Amino acid sequence: MTKGSRRLVLGFLLLPLLCAAILSSNISHRHLWKLQLSYRSNNHISIGRSDSANAEDVEFTRLLLRRLVRGKARRELSQNGISCISDPESDLCVTTDAVRISTATSSSPATVYLTAGQQLPPGFNSVLRPYPRKTDSFAMQRTTPVHLVAAHSNPPPCDLTHPFPAILFSIGGFAGNFFHDINDVLIPLFLTAGHLHSRAQLLVADFEPWWTQKYRRVLFHLSSAADIAVASSPSNPVEPKVHCFPAAVVGLKYHGNLLCNSSDAPGGVSTLDFRRFLHTALGLKEDRAAGAERPVLVLISRRTSRALLNEDGLVALAREVGFEVEVAAPARMTSVGEFAGVVNRCGVLMGVHGAGLTNMVFLPAGAVVVQVVPWGLDWAAAAYYARPARRMGLHYVEYHTAVEESTLYDKYPKDHPVLLDPWSINRQGYDVSRPIYTNGQNLTLDLARFRETLLQALELLPRPTRPW
Ligand SMILES: *[C@@H]1O[C@H](CO)[C@@H](O)[C@H](O)[C@H]1NC(C)=O
Ligand SMILES: *[C@@H]1O[C@H](CO)[C@@H](O)[C@H](O)[C@H]1NC(C)=O
Ligand SMILES: *[C@@H]1O[C@H](CO)[C@@H](O)[C@H](O)[C@H]1NC(C)=O
Repeated sequence: MTKGSRRLVLGFLLLPLLCAAILSSNISHRHLWKLQLSYRSNNHISIGRSDSANAEDVEFTRLLLRRLVRGKARRELSQNGISCISDPESDLCVTTDAVRISTATSSSPATVYLTAGQQLPPGFNSVLRPYPRKTDSFAMQRTTPVHLVAAHSNPPPCDLTHPFPAILFSIGGFAGNFFHDINDVLIPLFLTAGHLHSRAQLLVADFEPWWTQKYRRVLFHLSSAADIAVASSPSNPVEPKVHCFPAAVVGLKYHGNLLCNSSDAPGGVSTLDFRRFLHTALGLKEDRAAGAERPVLVLISRRTSRALLNEDGLVALAREVGFEVEVAAPARMTSVGEFAGVVNRCGVLMGVHGAGLTNMVFLPAGAVVVQVVPWGLDWAAAAYYARPARRMGLHYVEYHTAVEESTLYDKYPKDHPVLLDPWSINRQGYDVSRPIYTNGQNLTLDLARFRETLLQALELLPRPTRPW
């Protein structure tokens, strides 16, 4: 074999390997970066023009969209231009071909017309609720369904043609609760669109202007489009429009509580990547917890349920132990950017189990989360905050309240299962346990015992670096 032909053979051998590497879910960042560089010169995909740079750009975006599905679904997507998957908490349709999406009106739902001949997979229900809590009937009631229509003989004409794929999702469910904003919307959105390098047009169902305003900086870090489009809005009239897209994702990927699972599609995206993304979007500067003479402890103060009845004593104790204490009442957290900055500069974020602890996403690496676990809420405390904190590269310390520290202790007879056997209550379902453990108790902490927890948190922080 001559040198030349050997090179040729080698090339043929390597080509499929390269394609396989690109198509496999685990594309390294360097790889993506290289691909992106070669396509960067043309950031605008305009449909209808057919010069080769645009065609390549569309192809690149398709390649990235395919990462959202795997195995049989990936093959389906390559062959049919559409694939729909049903994950435990979310339904998701990805199409790499053109769609037209009409906004909801008082008489018709938001509708996705598949206009490039894509066929809905057999057995797939053509109605999809694009909020990743499908096992929660309450959340689903608050999520307006989106209809998918294949092979329509006369789809409506385009009012607006967008250059990027649509990412259609709802903020209906539980949006407005900070845990759910992050867990049900922003993390899933990052999993679904983060790898598209801002080539995404966000299209929001159950739109609320205050919500998109609140998270504006985060949303526009995912999309280089000029605006966020509206698919439906229960509280505000929306001008009926038909939006046209070169491709679309309807619904969001969801991996678990505050989780980006790097082994799951789109592949290679970890919870730490989300934290990095969020910090960049909000301009947070602190990467690692710094050593300080008096580290700042932010106390999330709850006022109506799971309130600390001796909060003042606890604050005094934390100061005595060596912390600078900032008490964050709920009103303090309305501006995401501002409160994120406060948390980002602190060493310890402390609070009773509840949505406010989700602010841990703004902590620098090596900071400490202290969770006070109310009576009967061990399971929730572990699933929602303990495991996520560790995955985010944070230290985690827990204070388990004794039954005597809960107001439940005075409310129930001493031999009642609410006090003796919380699991027997939790087992009966959230409707039973919620009014008791989640909404029905306040706490008075044993300060002598709590001092140990504070010392433990202090111990975990880096030592101050002295100038001499
Ligand atoms: C992806 O690649 C990284 C680094 O090469 C590796 O550590 C990781 O296990 C891979 N993940 C999968 C799902 O193959
Ligand atoms: C992450 O995904 C993999 C593959 O789907 C799965 O086996 C693993 O249990 C997941 N990890 C978590 C923490 O959910
Ligand atoms: C908990 O404390 C708050 C504020 O003091 C109060 O409004 C609420 O009724 C209390 N709840 C219980 C169950 O004691």
